[in-house]
Amino acid sequence: MIRSLSSSSSSSSPISSSSLLTLRNIRYFSSLIKNIPLAPADKILGLTSEFNHDQNNKKVNLTVGIYKDAFGKVTPFPSVRQAQNLLNKNHSNSKYNNLSYLPITGCKDFETNVTNFLFNDSINKPTLIEDNRISFIQTLSGTGAISIASTFITKFLSNEIIIPNYSWANHSNILQKNGFKNNINHYPYYDPITGKLSINKWKQYLRSTHSSKSTMPRSILLHASCHNPTGVDPTLKQWEEIIDIIHELKMIPIIDMAYQGLETGNLFQDCQLLKLCLDESRYPKGWKNGLFLCQSFAKNMGLYGERVGSLSIVLPPGQEEGSPESVMKDKINSQLKRIVRGMYSSPPGYGSKIANIILSEPDLKLRWIKDVKFMVDRLNQVRLMLYERLNWNDLINNELIMGCLFH
Ligand SMILES: Cc1ncc(COP(=O)(O)O)c(C=O)c1O
Repeated sequence: MIRSLSSSSSSSSPISSSSLLTLRNIRYFSSLIKNIPLAPADKILGLTSEFNHDQNNKKVNLTVGIYKDAFGKVTPFPSVRQAQNLLNKNHSNSKYNNLSYLPITGCKDFETNVTNFLFNDSINKPTLIEDNRISFIQTLSGTGAISIASTFITKFLSNEIIIPNYSWANHSNILQKNGFKNNINHYPYYDPITGKLSINKWKQYLRSTHSSKSTMPRSILLHASCHNPTGVDPTLKQWEEIIDIIHELKMIPIIDMAYQGLETGNLFQDCQLLKLCLDESRYPKGWKNGLFLCQSFAKNMGLYGERVGSLSIVLPPGQEEGSPESVMKDKINSQLKRIVRGMYSSPPGYGSKIANIILSEPDLKLRWIKDVKFMVDRLNQVRLMLYERLNWNDLINNELIMGCLFH
């Protein structure tokens, strides 16, 4: 292209200085693509790729958290299979077989079913829905929820976030790319020597790094259950101590609930952090700048590749229809829409239809609750067998957990 441009110009009129400049620019730009450096492989998926290339037939993949059956296969949960069958059987029904775009923030049924599951079934706080205090969007699984939350928060509320040391390897990547840039710090969480929670250091850190002069609140990322990668979670009492400080310092909590149900086998019992944060008797004024819940059905419905999850922003009290604050929700929703429209336009449909069927059919919902329990019981059995074969006490010591072998 450059050669033909220059030869045609040399055969006709002399080249003006501006076109020389353009030619030089074209030459300069044309080499940029050759100089793109190789990005480092993703810490988790990079290992998976190495695993796939490894020829050793005794290899075991402990990288990505995917639940596999006794044959090493990822098979749908019985409840998911039934929902899929229902979807196939009703393919002539437009409610089930609508291939059109979903609205920008997801389908309304999904919002109704998921908010009911999270705030009514899981933590028994239906008034949050009735009082119009949840700003909700369907997201591309948990990762999508964290990305949108991060973009929204950095646009309007906060420019610094703290995350645990250690945390899921992708957290800082998502937060950095979606607004927090390099303003990501780590709070002490896990002591690698004792294998336990660093509760005192964590509390000290929150207070000692707080600046009363700061004009914006700090955000903090909290793992709701099954802390990844350590597997160590605070007890309810420890959460109370921590959340009291976070609330007092007016921080913005972002709860990452990617493993609801996988800790105890009980979907509702794994919500103690969310329940505590939204306990009106403890925090009657709620969260001044909202509480952000990033939730995923990847692990607890086994819908990994379908990318089904949600972001709920729980607003402070005072959102009842007609109250002066109630327009806050409309404003927030409008901003969430803008962000999503510019990122991926609207979420995918299939997985959310499966989740909708499961969450709205009482029998299927019960089946799903049992499926989750079955999965966790089986994981515990496998762990016990591993302990028996390796005689490795840590595998069954709940206080000294090796997270990577747990979820
Ligand atoms: C702690 C944590 N948060 C969020 C996610 C996001 O998962 P997904 O985007 O598949 O829902 C994961 C996935 O492994 C995770 O471990």
